Order: sequence, then structure tokens, then C-alpha cells
Amino acid sequence: MTPLVVGPGSPLRGTLRMPGDKSISHRAALLGGLAAGTTRIRGFLRAEDCLATLRCLRGLGVAVEESADALMLRGGGLREPEDVLDVGNSGTTIRLLSGILAGQPFHTVVTGDASIRRRPMDRVTEPLRRMGARISGRQGGRLAPLSIDGGGLRGITYATPVASAQVKSAVLLAGLFADGDTEVREPALSRDHTERMLGAFGIPVARDGLTVRLRGPGRLRGTDLHVPGDLSSAAYFLVAAALVPGSEVTVEGVGLNPTRTGILDILRLMGAQVDVRDVREDGGEPVGTVSVRASRLRGVVIGGSLIPRAIDELPVVAVAASLAEGETVIRDAAELRVKESDRIAALARELARLGATVEAQPDGLAITGVRRLRGGRAASGGDHRVAMALAVAGLCADGPVTIEDPACIQTSFPEFEATLRRVAAG
Ligand code: S3P
Repeated sequence: MTPLVVGPGSPLRGTLRMPGDKSISHRAALLGGLAAGTTRIRGFLRAEDCLATLRCLRGLGVAVEESADALMLRGGGLREPEDVLDVGNSGTTIRLLSGILAGQPFHTVVTGDASIRRRPMDRVTEPLRRMGARISGRQGGRLAPLSIDGGGLRGITYATPVASAQVKSAVLLAGLFADGDTEVREPALSRDHTERMLGAFGIPVARDGLTVRLRGPGRLRGTDLHVPGDLSSAAYFLVAAALVPGSEVTVEGVGLNPTRTGILDILRLMGAQVDVRDVREDGGEPVGTVSVRASRLRGVVIGGSLIPRAIDELPVVAVAASLAEGETVIRDAAELRVKESDRIAALARELARLGATVEAQPDGLAITGVRRLRGGRAASGGDHRVAMALAVAGLCADGPVTIEDPACIQTSFPEFEATLRRVAAG
């Protein structure tokens, strides 16, 4: 594929709508696949990761129909797939699906691309085995492909070692097929879309602080859902608007779930002008309008419970930090090392090529802002969020940045380049 070239230009201006939230789209499809009757989803994200979820559901016998304005699923009874299920690059698909497969009385093999086959799966296979599933995989079940023989589960009480919505969701989804209560406690609050959406499908989920609980077995009823715009996709434009002098960008209809809005808190801490308005509930999720205007940013310390609330936005935060006044430290973020790529290593390496002062640390990054980045070549390493963060760097460099391997952007945001060109043209 031809590289993506992004250079400095005029201020960014415009009012945008983002494609559907990736996390919510995955969950809507997976729960629709489990639910009796029809589930209709508007705003579903048609990007590679979510299309991989649909492909897996079809392999499991779910009828999926796509029309221009909605996706319809007829689920209920999953059946043993004839072939291996391939999740492509999607960590959310393999981990949430493993929870569902652990509850099915048949055999499945699930795998994905080279990045997926490097990422840790023991964080889900370990609790799912405790619930009674028989799972094997490379390195004792630590790596995909995973072979799952499910069924006969019992509820467990599980304390997750990391704040991971994928782990929490996998255990809760298995809990739908288990006898008795399934309880998950996490060290910090991760995104709670699964808990919210289970309610919409008729399954009550109790929350007490950092603990969630449901009672199995649970029978889901099909429903109508609307997926809000993805704040993680909006983040590239919001950060770019904060950085490029004279800019103002507004994003409407974007998800504002408090477990996801860490990026807005970080931008405010850095001194950006952030305005949030028209907040309303849509299908159990808060949605609203966000505007950001350019201002001089300053370095900050980012850690603790803010990290899971901004985990996917940290690559573009690193770009903001590269141009902020003073030092920014991102800590408690060792999870970045096991995302689609090792994002700590990738950001340290690629931002340094563009003239940033950046140091990789075991659990984050230390970045001292410079006045301007320089143009040049940078590599996405096959990671969509690194690619899009580097594109934002290109808007703030003294010459064009050429991003190699931009095809990965298709996993979450196929319209990214077109949207960027539109706001960059004012
Ligand atoms: C996601 C959870 C997060 C996030 C990922 C999507 C989800 O991963 O980084 O992009 O939809 O549940 P972890 O659960 O590994 O933190």
C-alpha cells in the first residue's frame, strides 16, 4: 500500500461525526448473536476489527444481514463451526469470544494475525479454565491459536490482575452460561460497555465499586441498539485541534462514557480549551458534543486510574506531550506493551525519528516537549493507533511525515484519511 503523507498546513476547522464506537460495536454484535430473536444495530462500525467479529458469528451459525442503515442479527443457538475462527487483528474479538465459546458445548479453534498470536491470552484462559472450560493453546494456553471445549461452567469470583475490560467481559460472558453467580473485581475501573449493554438485553448486572456480578444462566432477548460515535477516533482530531494554532474542531454525537473520557481530562490538564455540551443518554450510553480550540499545552503526569480511562488514546497523547511545554510522564501504563504492538517502544522510536525528546520506560514514557517536530519517515509497525498518532505529528512538523504501513488504519477507522483531509482544508 502507498504510504500516508501528512504535512503541516492551515488551522483545522470543522464539525465532524465519527464512525461507530469500536468497543460498543463488538459487544452489540456478540450479544445480538447470543440473544433470542432479532437484534437491530444502527451505527455499527464497519471496520476490519468489527467485521471480523461478524465473520466469527457467521461461522457460529448466526444470521447476519447488513443493510445501508442497520445491521440485523438473528441469534440464539450457536453451533459448532466447521472451520477455525479467525479474528484478524482484533483483541476484543478473541478475548470476548473466548468467554462465549467457553460456555458452548462444542469444540472451537480461534486464532488471528501475527500480532494477535503474540498477545497474552492467559489473562482470559486462566479464569475461563477455573470456570470449567477446557482450553489449550501455544505455550500452555498463553498464546493463540486457542482450542476451546466449552460447557458445564460454574460461576466464580475473580480478581483481575490488570484493569482490562476484555478480561472482565470474557468472564462475565462466560458467566451467562455458568451455574450461579459470576463476580469480577478489577484493580481500577475499565470501560463498562458490557455491563451496560447486558442490561439492554435483559440481563441485570450488579455493581458495587470495582466489583460486578451477574447470575447465570442468563437468557438474552434481542433488542434495538444505536452505537454512538467513537471518542477514541475523535481523539486524533481533538488533539490535533489543541496543537495546531488557530484550530477549532467540534465532534457531534460522540460517546462520553466516563470510563472512556480520560482523553478529555488529559487535554484539560495540559491546558487545552475543551467544551462538552448537549450530553444525553442514548441506549444506556452517554453521548454529546465536544469542541477543542488550540492553545499552548503544558506537560503533565498521567498515571493511576486515569490510565484505563485513556489507554487507547495514549499514543496521540504522546504526540501532544512531544510539543507541550516541559515534561510529561506517562506511568502505570505497562499494558501499552501488549497492545496491537509494543506501543511504548514504537512511540519512543518513531517520535524520536521526528525530533521528539522521548524516553521509553518499563511502564510508560517520559517526554520533554520541543517547539516543532521535523518531517521525515515513520513506521506504524502495523498498529492503527500508532499510525494515526503519527499522522497528527505530521500536522505539527516542519515538513511532511511519511507514514509507512498505513493499511492498519482500516482496523478501526477506514474514513480517517478522508476526514483528516477535510478538517485540514478548513
Ligand atoms: C477494549 C478494551 C481495552 C482497549 C481495547 C478495547 C474493549 O483493552 O485497549 O482497544 O473493547 O474491551 P484491554 O481490555 O486489554 O485493556
